[in-house]
Parts: sequence; C-alpha cells; structure tokens
Amino acid sequence: MESNGNIAIDGPAGAGKSTIARLLAERLNYLYIDTGAMYRALAWKALRKGLDLTDESGLSRLAEDTEIMLRVDPEGKNLVYCDHVDVTEDIRLPEVSRNVSLVAKVPGVRRRMVELQRRMASSGRVVMDGRDIGTHVLPDAPYKFFLTASLDERARRRFMELKQQGHAVTLDEVKEEIRMRDHTDAKREVAPLVQAPEAMLIDTTGLSPEEVIRMILARCHGGGKH
Ligand code: CDP
Repeated sequence: MESNGNIAIDGPAGAGKSTIARLLAERLNYLYIDTGAMYRALAWKALRKGLDLTDESGLSRLAEDTEIMLRVDPEGKNLVYCDHVDVTEDIRLPEVSRNVSLVAKVPGVRRRMVELQRRMASSGRVVMDGRDIGTHVLPDAPYKFFLTASLDERARRRFMELKQQGHAVTLDEVKEEIRMRDHTDAKREVAPLVQAPEAMLIDTTGLSPEEVIRMILARCHGGGKH
C-alpha cells in the first residue's frame, strides 16, 4: 500500500522555504527536494548557451534535452547537477536569479520539471519546496504550508546570504530582484505562485527557523488538513 506523507512548502522568494524544508527533512528522515534549484539549473544552462529567453519552444526543447539531478553528499549537503556537472554554487549567481522566472514561466519547461518532481516524490516521504507544489505538483500531499515574510525581511535575509558568499550586491538590488521575480511568478499563466486554500499560512517575519519548524511539526502531528 502506498502511504503518502509528503510535505509541500510554497511561498515567495526569500521566505525561508529552503532552510525550513532542509531542517524538516533532516528531522523526519525525509528527502528534501528543492524544485527552485531545478529551474535555476535550466536557467543557468540557457544563459551559458546564450539562448534567447523569450524563445519558448527553444527553452522547452532545452528542458527535454537536459538531465537535472539532485543529490545529497555524505556530509548531508544538497548538490545540484546539470548534465552531470555540479552547478550547486553557480545556480545561485545573481544573473541566474534575475532570469530564472523567465525560464520557469514556459509551459513546456514546467511540464518536464513537474514530471520529474512527481517521480521524485513517489516514495511519499519528501519535503518539497517551490511555488506550485501544494497547488499543482503534489495536490494530494497531506501536509501543505505557505511561508511568507515582509518584502524587507526577505530582501534582508537574501542580502546577508549573498554577502556571506562574497557576492557584491546592494540591499536595494536584492530587493528589486525579489520584487520582480515575485511579480513574474505570481502573474504567469501556468501554475502561478498562489496559496493552496488548504495550506497553513505562516508569516516567518521575526520567527526563528526553530519556531517555524515547531509550528509545522505540530500541524503534521495533528494530522494535516484531514
Ligand atoms: O530560493 P528562492 O526563493 O530565491 O527561489 P527558488 O526556490 O530557488 O526558485 C527560483 C525560481 O524558480 C522562482 O522564482 C520561480 O520562478 C521558479 N520556480 C517555479 O516556478 N516553480 C517552483 N516550484 C520552484 C521555483
């Protein structure tokens, strides 16, 4: 019998999804699947090949011809491979962040990614984060969460992260990039960023990861939406 204990986490850029999802997966001994990393890997490849990012059929073909793999190394670090090349660091470059939403809004790209994501979740023991997980990729997931935070807080968190990694960006640039990306993600025609009605909304502004995890686990132990 298939048992479905999947956890879907959606929300806008910088809401803390990946930090929470990773910790939660560790705690539950689940697999963490970062769907944003998959779109980022494809955007990275498209940029490297110099593809026209408004060419939808070109991008759809690229998605069909690209092998994207998520792997966890022995130290527990999540690695992303694009055609067997480790792109874990490169997909976080500001150039990729600025362009990823253009790639992710292409219907053919999404079709391919969603197919892969559903396959990855078939064990029923995954924490998957993204924009359309609760609404589209795993509509039957028993546990759904929508994380958000104020734009200022999200920009500040992302800015600190990038600064720590040595990227030369300003807070204003980061804020603008996040604002634009949220707009594109929320307005696109296919599977836009939207809260599933049954998802629990958590505003993480001013909350520590541990506090958010506690809220999520309390809900899961309480039986989710059912
Ligand atoms: O980590 P961050 O919030 O910056 O974003 P991400 O999760 O790495 O996702 C990068 C981009 O991929 C998003 O802005 C979306 O355009 C796209 N994405 C999507 O369309 N659907 C998903 N399930 C996940 C990401």
